[in-house]
Amino acid sequence: MATAKILAISGSLRSDSHNTRLLHAARKFNPGGQDIEIYDGLRDIPAYDQDLDTPEKRPAIVNDLRRRVQAADGLLIATPEFNYSIPGVLKNALDWLSTDWTKTEGLPLHRKPTAILGAAPTNFGSVRAQLALRQVFVWTDSDVVVKPEVIVFRSHERFDGEGNLTDEITIGLLQDLLKALQTKIDAAAAR
Ligand SMILES: Cc1cc2nc3c(=O)[nH]c(=O)nc-3n(C[C@H](O)[C@H](O)[C@H](O)COP(=O)(O)O)c2cc1C
Repeated sequence: MATAKILAISGSLRSDSHNTRLLHAARKFNPGGQDIEIYDGLRDIPAYDQDLDTPEKRPAIVNDLRRRVQAADGLLIATPEFNYSIPGVLKNALDWLSTDWTKTEGLPLHRKPTAILGAAPTNFGSVRAQLALRQVFVWTDSDVVVKPEVIVFRSHERFDGEGNLTDEITIGLLQDLLKALQTKIDAAAAR
């Protein structure tokens, strides 16, 4: 098939975010030539409001994100762990992406091939946040990669001074994750 388009979203707004760095590494070490776009609008997504969740009333930035997700062949989501769960900004955006009250526009996340990963400087490496993220994708019926699990614990040890991912094991896992995502994208295209 044509080059797969991946929309990558980091759940961290921090400028030196390890999770955002992982997405940059995904672009750099991408084994399959996927076109990976890193979304940078998360900070400006307003709080979810069901009264505004219609094609006419939705904030423009939300409609733009929904269009980007619909146009992407797959999603790559890097989540930090905040208080054993995913950051509110990420959950908020996913809520805006999960609905179609009109039953005509389509659900952006429905059956969307999706890969998740996460980093934390602790020994737990976002594992609890990733489990919480998997739960979100149950309701949306997204097609989430199960293995490999990319749990980047002690994440501060895995980048050089310029923020480049240097840890070979993490690079290998990231590449395997992208290959697994491609397998799901190919299967979706064949359906
Ligand atoms: C509000 C808040 C809550 C946090 N809760 C957890 C937590 O439950 N588990 C954990 O391992 N790290 C926790 N951390 C530490 C984050 O994992 C760490 O700040 C991480 O680097 C954030 O990801 P980023 O580098 O992509 O910004 C928390 C940090 C913040 C700011």
